[in-house]
Amino acid sequence: MGSPTPAVSAEQFLPDRITLTSLYHAAQTCRGCPLYQNATQTVFGKGRSDARVVLVGEQPGNDEDLQGEPFVGPAGRLLDQALARAGIARADAYVTNVVKHFKWTPMGKRRLHQKPNAREIGACLPWLEKEIEVIQPEILVCLGATAARAIMGRAFRVTQQRGQVLPSRYAERTVATVHPSSILRQPTTEDRNRDMHQLTADLR
Ligand code: URA
Ligand code: SF4
Repeated sequence: MGSPTPAVSAEQFLPDRITLTSLYHAAQTCRGCPLYQNATQTVFGKGRSDARVVLVGEQPGNDEDLQGEPFVGPAGRLLDQALARAGIARADAYVTNVVKHFKWTPMGKRRLHQKPNAREIGACLPWLEKEIEVIQPEILVCLGATAARAIMGRAFRVTQQRGQVLPSRYAERTVATVHPSSILRQPTTEDRNRDMHQLTADLR
């Protein structure tokens, strides 16, 4: 007997009976792509199974990797602010990411965020698909280009189509907006305020 075929996606790690809880537990030991090797833990989505809105980011960041929950770092605080201003309680939303493990490269003592590639995104997508299938949200919100392209297709441009409510293969109503992390990277307060305004308006 040869060695087992290496996993090519999360597909083979999916549980038999699909609920948010069974998905959460199964994802903890996912080895569907190499990203689990350098991450602390799987950061699965969090929220209610009857959430009306599902928010999808790119991948966990440094804080999320350490705490095991999505959007708990600086980007998460900004997202909370925008949600509050838009009149959406975080508790009424389900928050998750396209990719469930933190991808990073060492930068001195820090861990620098690296964009997941197409293979990693494709490998991780079964988790997101099942999360959305279970929840069946009224509206699906893509935060940033990675989520927007994974969900709306590679040709999608957030800069041109943000804020438009469109059908996607995952939800009747899907909308893309700027990523909270990109707001944090803006050089001036003016730029940050403008982007924050856009994010809030799109969430509304
Ligand atoms: N950025 C993301 O895309 N997701 C997180 O969970 C945190 C930061
Ligand atoms: Fe599995 Fe996704 Fe983690 Fe890759 S990034 S090991 S597919 S959970």
